[in-house]
Amino acid sequence: MKLGVVILAAGQGTRMRSSLPKVLHRLANRPLLRHVVDTSNELDPAQTIIVYGHGGEAVQQAFSSDNGLLWVEQSQQLGTGHAVDQAIPVLAGVDRVLVLYGDVPLIQTSTLSSLIHAASETDLALLTVNLENPTGYGRIVRDAQGRVQRIVEQKDATPEELSITEINTGFLVADKKRLTNWLSRLDNNNAQNEYYLTDIVELAVADGIDVKAAQPDDSTEVMGVNDRSQLARLERYYQCNQAEALMQKGVALLDPSRFDLRGELTAGQDVQIDINVIIEGRVELGDGVRIGANTVIRNCTIADGVQILENCVIEDSIIGTESIIGPFSRIRPGTKLAGQNKVGNFVEIKKSEIDEASKINHLSYIGDSVVGKNVNIGAGTITCNYDGANKFQTVIGDNVFIGSDSQLVAPVKIGTGATIGAGSTITADTPPDKLSLSRSKQFSVKGWKRPVKKTKT
Ligand code: UD1
Ligand code: CA
Repeated sequence: MKLGVVILAAGQGTRMRSSLPKVLHRLANRPLLRHVVDTSNELDPAQTIIVYGHGGEAVQQAFSSDNGLLWVEQSQQLGTGHAVDQAIPVLAGVDRVLVLYGDVPLIQTSTLSSLIHAASETDLALLTVNLENPTGYGRIVRDAQGRVQRIVEQKDATPEELSITEINTGFLVADKKRLTNWLSRLDNNNAQNEYYLTDIVELAVADGIDVKAAQPDDSTEVMGVNDRSQLARLERYYQCNQAEALMQKGVALLDPSRFDLRGELTAGQDVQIDINVIIEGRVELGDGVRIGANTVIRNCTIADGVQILENCVIEDSIIGTESIIGPFSRIRPGTKLAGQNKVGNFVEIKKSEIDEASKINHLSYIGDSVVGKNVNIGAGTITCNYDGANKFQTVIGDNVFIGSDSQLVAPVKIGTGATIGAGSTITADTPPDKLSLSRSKQFSVKGWKRPVKKTKT
């Protein structure tokens, strides 16, 4: 049985009050539609068709690197039945069709598998769920024997039907040939003058089909995003699940409700993460890593025993074993610390390699540099890597000592074991093992008196 997936994503998303198409809004930093496409891909479908409408170009662009997605436009939103019908001419070589929704991001593969399983013995299976408050949803009408008869939308329901708590999630699996026929028979004689996908249930029953129903593991899986409040709720749910999974794997989250993972995190043993830490992209944490409060780490490898103190931003970098970073350090892309390094407050490092045990402890900018082992860079050191047009490299040998408040004007090399006197502006390469400094001579003015305030007469 070959599966075709149709993802409905044509709705305007008016209630988001945004210029961005709804399905491009992000949950855990991935577009809603990305979650759905990734889940769908796990089912290995023969075809995946996305029915788009508003903002279609932007949506397609966001998925331009996905091979094999098929795009179908629904220029007028005439209803969910009409939307699925747009995909029919494109569906080829599939036996069954699974309908998904671009704005229902948390549906799980396991739930879809049980829906597909329910459809294995019949031509139509629905995903339904019981809700304490079913308001707004289509209700599942069953007969006295409990067999599904039809779906009635909230706006078309009688008071008696409104008391039904089993609702339609919208997810369904149907035989492709049957579905094609049912869709062609839909009309829009209803309260909303829409072609309801839900009306295929009644047509199936009339055709003698035994309509099956499956249920998700958790009702949050089938919750859609219509406004920013619902989006925020799903984000928190998603984050709590991720946090729970990490804690089960042994990560100590000091407060799981104040932790955000927007990507993939792998962590060794005895990792501890304080509050308000955001992890983005792919991050690897070694054994015993500790991360202080209010820190953002994006696409980094952090080796065993590293301590990241409070308020750091670390991106696209590698931090070697037992280094201590922060508080208030900014490590920008392309930085590699070899290990046992110390990077302190208000230090910015960009695209630089720092060898073992070197320290940059206070108020410095190190960019486009190669720094040797056991180097001590004093407070307020700046590598002047940019002349306004081009960038240049600074190379600092092993065992160098750079005095505080020095500027190293690149391109420049500081020889192994060299010492740079505090307050120097170094514009030429310095020899190894020598003290180099550029500093105007200190003098004191004889007879100078501090001015005093004039008294008013
Ligand atoms: C639909 C179901 C309802 C179910 C509910 C679950 C129908 C008629 N009703 O109602 O039984 O309980 O979902 O959330 O199907 N869309 C299009 N093109 C259209 C219309 C909709 O792509 O012309 C897409 C929307 O972007 C959205 C989805 O289909 O992703 C559902 O549409 P929506 O209008 O929200 O349906 P509901 O009225 O909520
Ligand atoms: Ca809806």
